[in-house]
Amino acid sequence: MTGTDVLLGLQWGDEGKGKVVDVLTPHYDIIARFQGGPNAGHTLEFNNIKHVLHTIPSGIFREGTMNLIGNGVVIDPVIFKKEIENLKQFDLNIKELLRVSKKTHLILPTHRILDAASEQAKGKKKIGSTLKGIGPTYMDKTGRNGLRVGDIYTSNFKQRYDLLVEKHKAMLARFDFDYDLSEYEEAWFEAIEVLKEIPAVDSEHYVDQAQKEGKKILAEGAQGTLLDIDFGTYPYVTSSNTITAGTCTGLGIAPNKINDVIGIFKAYCTRVGSGPFPTELHDETGEEMRKEGHEFGATTGRPRRCGWIDLPALKYAIMINGVTKLAMMKADVLSIFESIQVCTHYDYQGELIDFLPYDLEDPSLKPVYKELPGWKDIDLTGMNSMNEIPENLNNYIEFLEKELNTPITIVSVGPNRNQTILREEILA
Ligand code: GDP
Ligand code: IMO
Ligand code: MG
Repeated sequence: MTGTDVLLGLQWGDEGKGKVVDVLTPHYDIIARFQGGPNAGHTLEFNNIKHVLHTIPSGIFREGTMNLIGNGVVIDPVIFKKEIENLKQFDLNIKELLRVSKKTHLILPTHRILDAASEQAKGKKKIGSTLKGIGPTYMDKTGRNGLRVGDIYTSNFKQRYDLLVEKHKAMLARFDFDYDLSEYEEAWFEAIEVLKEIPAVDSEHYVDQAQKEGKKILAEGAQGTLLDIDFGTYPYVTSSNTITAGTCTGLGIAPNKINDVIGIFKAYCTRVGSGPFPTELHDETGEEMRKEGHEFGATTGRPRRCGWIDLPALKYAIMINGVTKLAMMKADVLSIFESIQVCTHYDYQGELIDFLPYDLEDPSLKPVYKELPGWKDIDLTGMNSMNEIPENLNNYIEFLEKELNTPITIVSVGPNRNQTILREEILA
């Protein structure tokens, strides 16, 4: 089928989106990022290479596929330049493989400073932002002050930049926050020149034309559903729509052009930054998960909070996104446990519920678990078919599929491209 498929995270980000997009890229003509910015860190591993992408779509390593940075993305030219430089070692023809929307918003040096100042002022209530300037940039977008990639080609770009920076300086004066703009600003304008080397397109027409030609598009999400600005654990969220609807606004794709929605989740659960996390483990078990899963942020290096899988949260994410297929990641990490806990319900204000209540921070809320036997000490990382996997993992998968009422079509058993079990003849 032609049209657009979507791949996005169902938890709090870092589910393994980069890996799965890379695996699926050969089935698509275009990989398009639709939201987020360099707060994202998408890891790809193949041929003894481990690479982390922040702004550039995860299809970049496969020849013959175009990569598009959509209008819903926010781009920091300095980080983008670094990403391009890091890719030089792979001998890719980036100018041929990458396009950026003219409507993509720019992260200014002062957006980053405002992010840091705002987080500092929040004290204990801080979001745990990646400090990449995401919130302030989207604020300027919706406040109708922002600068976009298309603006860098206009003759009065510097004046418009200066005007916005003046506004930001006035805002910064209200914070007790020291900053030095000059050094970062120089690097920013240098990086704008690198950005100019990447063809800027009217991306809504670009994807429309591609669809008319029968090309297949995979929209790559950043962050995860529970970090969505509307439906996530507000205010501990990011500033964009991370859900399927974000594909429509972030690329200019009509809702009726979307086919499959591939929802990706870890066989357990992680979160980085602040905010509620009902199944979080503060004990030895959580520590073991973090160690075995190498759960440290790909962008910030911060340790990720770890806990058991949360089905009420996953059901919510599947509903909001219209998920048609699931990808379960990091099953191999659970091989260290005798048994696996699955949160099937919450005990909330004396009632048993299986949905996300408005206030996830309500102190009465407690996860209710079902225990399933594990596949302890069985190494999954060399397995590549469902015939090889242990019975208890198969039972785990079947249990989740039944609870979630959605097929798990991809099971990932290691970080490498090859460590992926496809449970159906994949796509198209
Ligand atoms: P993304 O932001 O969703 O792309 O995910 P990240 O790259 O931030 O985090 C996922 C991490 O898990 C990366 O270090 C991946 O290399 C790694 N990873 C992905 N899939 C698997 C898997 O099935 N098993 C293991 N052990 N690691 C995985
Ligand atoms: P990928 O695409 C995990 C979290 C931050 C913080 C909150 C707001 O790699 O899955 P922001 O910088 O957006 O203002 O931070 O969102 N966060 C992520 N957590 N993975 C990500 O991206 C994230 N991007 C932002 O930790 O709690
Ligand atoms: Mg990540």
